[in-house]
Amino acid sequence: MTYKIGIVILAAGEGTRLKLECAKPLAPALGRAIVDYPIDAAKRFLQRKDIDGDIVVVTGHDRERVEGYLKNKYGEDLLFAFQKEQKGTADALRTYFNEDKTSKDRDATIVLCADTPLIRESDLSILFNELIEKKLDGVAATFFEEDPAGYGRIVRSEKGFHIVEHKDATEELREIQEVNSGLYVLNTAFALEHLELVSCENKSGEFYLTDLFQDQHKVQPIFFEESFKFIGVNDLTQLEMVEGYLRSEKNSLLRQKGVRFIDSSTAYIDWEVTVEEGTCIAPGVAISGASKIGANCIIGMGTSIENGILEANVEIKPMSCVEDAVVRTGAVVGPFARLRPRADIGEDAKIGNFVEIKKAVLERGAKVSHLSYVGDAQIGENTNIGCGFITCNYDGAKKHKTIIGKNSFIGSDTQMVAPVEVGDECFVASGSTITNSMPKGAFAISRCRQITKENMASKFIRKK
Ligand code: UD1
Ligand code: MG
Repeated sequence: MTYKIGIVILAAGEGTRLKLECAKPLAPALGRAIVDYPIDAAKRFLQRKDIDGDIVVVTGHDRERVEGYLKNKYGEDLLFAFQKEQKGTADALRTYFNEDKTSKDRDATIVLCADTPLIRESDLSILFNELIEKKLDGVAATFFEEDPAGYGRIVRSEKGFHIVEHKDATEELREIQEVNSGLYVLNTAFALEHLELVSCENKSGEFYLTDLFQDQHKVQPIFFEESFKFIGVNDLTQLEMVEGYLRSEKNSLLRQKGVRFIDSSTAYIDWEVTVEEGTCIAPGVAISGASKIGANCIIGMGTSIENGILEANVEIKPMSCVEDAVVRTGAVVGPFARLRPRADIGEDAKIGNFVEIKKAVLERGAKVSHLSYVGDAQIGENTNIGCGFITCNYDGAKKHKTIIGKNSFIGSDTQMVAPVEVGDECFVASGSTITNSMPKGAFAISRCRQITKENMASKFIRKK
């Protein structure tokens, strides 16, 4: 049998307690928005063979930005319902049923909150299976919370169970530490019938979805031991806690894949970053954005990589920064190197300490070993750039290009005043300022001749 499922992600709330500039669903966690996590869980759950369904996000506060972000990322995979006024979670679910035409025909409706990013598809399965097997009308995931302030309390009795929101709870009920997670699976017909009856006569004046759970209904709380899964992001402390859990989850997923950490507690790797087997990550490394790290790389201590692509067998030595740059197979970078946007470091190339590369292609085997700036340039295969080399790429108004061919040797302390082109197999003497292009095989020197006067040093050395 195939079950028809509607998954609703409640994301209309403002999240004032978070004190962020963006709406709560867009609060950042490991380089993406917190709402991305329940969407992932929902998408994975829908891959079950016995299930067919859609995901609908209820938006409201800052709708344009929230929907803009999600449409850009998921395209047609998500549907939206617009809750004009945030009158509570029950009102949000009503909005979904009113706006989504197929919603009422679904066998079950799963409700997730945008602000609980640690829930996974396995949790949805546990709840869904309970509902089906026990023929229930609703199940709510619950957990134990040491400090339950803010959460809805789970009131169990012989008659059944119900949920009392923190604001409405008596002192006695506030002692209860079993709390509501905000994750529910509901029989759709039951939800439709009882949503209409939910009132807003409570301390918040809101329509509480939790009012569907009443003693007399065929509903059950499902207790989860792993309480951290249900942390709701309502303030910055919770956001930081959630990021901590996500980080260790991400690192252990990578470890299972064969990535070695020297100390994973200090590795800051964004959720969407990929790292292949055999790579070793030293302490204090941050890899963010859309970075992709190949197999058998070594990422040295204190290195930061943002939107970087590293092919296999790359070594980034300590304290280097890679931003929007590509490093190809076998290349070695750092220590203390800076690869800026559009740096493309070729196979087996070498970038040494205190070297900055910007918008430049270094072909296979090229070397820039120490203290250099290479910007708006192209450096050919196996060309060696000496210490203290500078591309003078900027004339105060425009950027110009430096092109150097293959197998050339550029002596230390050379400047290339762009635009300038140096051919293959050229040799530039140390300390030269190159202003004119050089044809293949040429030699250039542009510095004063040395004058040596014997025994004259004493004239300049001051006596103490
Ligand atoms: C809710 C539960 C509470 C539970 C807690 C778990 C209710 C009444 N209370 O409280 O029992 O312990 O989650 O984290 O449901 N939202 C809308 N439209 C609205 C109001 C809220 O879409 O009109 C969305 C929010 O964006 C959020 C979610 O619903 O994603 C939950 O709302 P929130 O205000 O965070 O509820 P809590 O106070 O955390
Ligand atoms: Mg909440």
